Amino acid sequence: MLDGDRHKRQRQLLIPPFHGERMQAYGEIIRNITEKVFIALPQNEPLSIRTAMQEISLQVILQAVFGLYEGERCQQLKRLLTSMLEVFQSPLGSSFLFFRFLQKDLGAWSPWGRFVRQRQQIDELLYAEIAERRTKSDPNRIDILSLLMSARDEEGKPMTDQELRDELITLLFAGHETTATAMAWALYWMHHLPQVGEKVLQELSTLGDSPNLIDIARLPYLSAVCNETLRINPVALLAFGRVVQEPVELLGHQLEPGTGVYGCIYLLHHREDLYPNSNQFKPERFLERQFSPYEFIPFGGGVRRCIGEALALFEMKLVLATILSRYQLALTTNQPEQPQRRGVTLAPSGRVKMMITGERKHQESPKVVASV
Ligand code: HEM
Repeated sequence: MLDGDRHKRQRQLLIPPFHGERMQAYGEIIRNITEKVFIALPQNEPLSIRTAMQEISLQVILQAVFGLYEGERCQQLKRLLTSMLEVFQSPLGSSFLFFRFLQKDLGAWSPWGRFVRQRQQIDELLYAEIAERRTKSDPNRIDILSLLMSARDEEGKPMTDQELRDELITLLFAGHETTATAMAWALYWMHHLPQVGEKVLQELSTLGDSPNLIDIARLPYLSAVCNETLRINPVALLAFGRVVQEPVELLGHQLEPGTGVYGCIYLLHHREDLYPNSNQFKPERFLERQFSPYEFIPFGGGVRRCIGEALALFEMKLVLATILSRYQLALTTNQPEQPQRRGVTLAPSGRVKMMITGERKHQESPKVVASV
């Protein structure tokens, strides 16, 4: 009944799924980035956990998807992409992307002029990277760009430079903000309810001092915490819209071709018949029963569901496990975080203000919430 356009389906066929041996390598990348970002953070000073998570998720995408680790081009791209992503996060700043009459290039200082120039610089850097890879192909590379460059469509044709650039930007926009927000919410819940963080630490300690990354990702309670986070605070309020192709009846409503339909992830995740006391954070729900793909849909559903799900969940679990097992953190206030719309995501309004209050030598219990 509900279908997307052909081009996007083709893209899904071309993009290799995130799993298998490459996941182990991505795991190392994720752990190293988390350690680096956290070492640079001040201790005993309030900081925005959401900002720290954005830094981690941007670097994960640059390394695992773009294959950019260091160097001038990497730094330039990081600066430009961060600045461009900020535009999409503020409703005011992003309005000129949606209203054509605001799209006037009045020079480098005008909003649209700045956006156009940044976009051009990003394109130049990406095309330079693609050109360099085409001349120096390295079979050992594990990043998604390299895999996309070696992919062939049904007619045996490789992707053009412009298609590659479009894929990279799509993956960046779809995967950066979403994963950062989910990790910030999870850290919030694990400290707002210290018994949850404590249970995660206990579970981690069962894996010994140097746990295998894949084993961490398989831990049942940690997985339940991630699922419950994505249930109670689904990052995407709605799935993408679908257009009805042929007449169909849905929950007693007769839908005709051409009708737009949106699945509301938030409302489904707060249905009391499925999730009693739905505003209560309770990871045990996911240990007590298995929810069907029609009951739990943080990544959407059907053929057009999120293609980054495996990477996002893996990243969430490894980042949370790395932080929790190395650092003691405390929220700077007992006030509950409220969800607030930021761009197309639902993010914590207070940006999850926390302090690093100490380091863990061995795995100890997390500190009880401190009030400043
Ligand atoms: C916690 C993190 C994430 C959440 C909650 C999330 C959620 C979603 C949702 C709800 C959709 C719409 C699916 C539908 O309408 O059925 C979607 C689509 C998509 N996501 Fe994610 N996502 C996350 C992370 C990622 C990551 C890490 C990537 C890639 C690196 C990614 C790439 C995409 C792409 C390319 C689409 C569009 C698929 C298409 O149009 O066919 N996402 N995501």
